[in-house]
Amino acid sequence: MPPILKVANISRFFGGVAAISELSFALSTGEILGLIGPNGAGKTTLFNLITGFLRPNLGEIYFQGRRLAGLKPHKIVARGVTRTFQIPKPFGSLNCLENVAVSMVAKTGLARRHDPEMLRRSRLILETTGLADKEGMLPEALTQGDLKKLEIARALATSPHLLLLDEPFAGLTNAEIAGISQLIEQVHGRGVTMIIVEHRLRELMRIVQRVVALDFGEKIAEGTPQEITSHPRVIEAYLGTGD
Ligand SMILES: Nc1ncnc2c1ncn2[C@@H]1O[C@H](COP(=O)(O)OP(=O)(O)OP(=O)(O)O)[C@@H](O)[C@H]1O
Ligand SMILES: [Mg+2]
Repeated sequence: MPPILKVANISRFFGGVAAISELSFALSTGEILGLIGPNGAGKTTLFNLITGFLRPNLGEIYFQGRRLAGLKPHKIVARGVTRTFQIPKPFGSLNCLENVAVSMVAKTGLARRHDPEMLRRSRLILETTGLADKEGMLPEALTQGDLKKLEIARALATSPHLLLLDEPFAGLTNAEIAGISQLIEQVHGRGVTMIIVEHRLRELMRIVQRVVALDFGEKIAEGTPQEITSHPRVIEAYLGTGD
């Protein structure tokens, strides 16, 4: 089966510095890929490149065999690729239900935020994400864990085939991480392919099948969680010898 996502030798420079350098990898349909690397390794930049917030200077990105690079973010969402943000970005003046509904409108462009069918589907998503009893709450009243769930709920509202999660566990307690992990597995069970960026490696390794490790924008390792956690270049990158 052809890969759902193919990243082909992409580079992205800021000034003279390569935030992503000659990076290639492929993702199979239904896979959950972990993307790891120290701060500044280029993980969020890669998400920005896949989702059209940035363009690669070199290389190509293919989703379901078609080129993505150069398309506007909303066109890429319409193709079925959605990301969450490292820092959740809900609309502060809208409650949870409205936040999900607005994301759905953004994808379909068909109906207004208060369309009954839209609200029904949005409520289903709040149920899936464990936020059903919070639909009338504003984001500012949510716990960190529920904010992360809302971020995932907003992404699910676009019916993604490929979901990119940027640090879904950041700032959460162990109990909250367990809840988000369960949610991720549930979404995966519905056939959504995923890439997950995380610094909480132990928790990440439990839910991913394969891992790509970046350092200074370059792929330094790729393999199973077991292979990656014992990989000398990964260990070196995380310990940061600094010389
Ligand atoms: N818009 C930008 N303009 C200039 N430099 C940028 C920009 N975006 C990212 N960078 C630089 O690119 C490099 C990679 O940043 P990126 O945010 O992708 O790292 P990251 O792996 O997501 O790190 P973290 O784990 O801290 O989130 C960094 O050196 C960063 O300063
Ligand atoms: Mg980042």
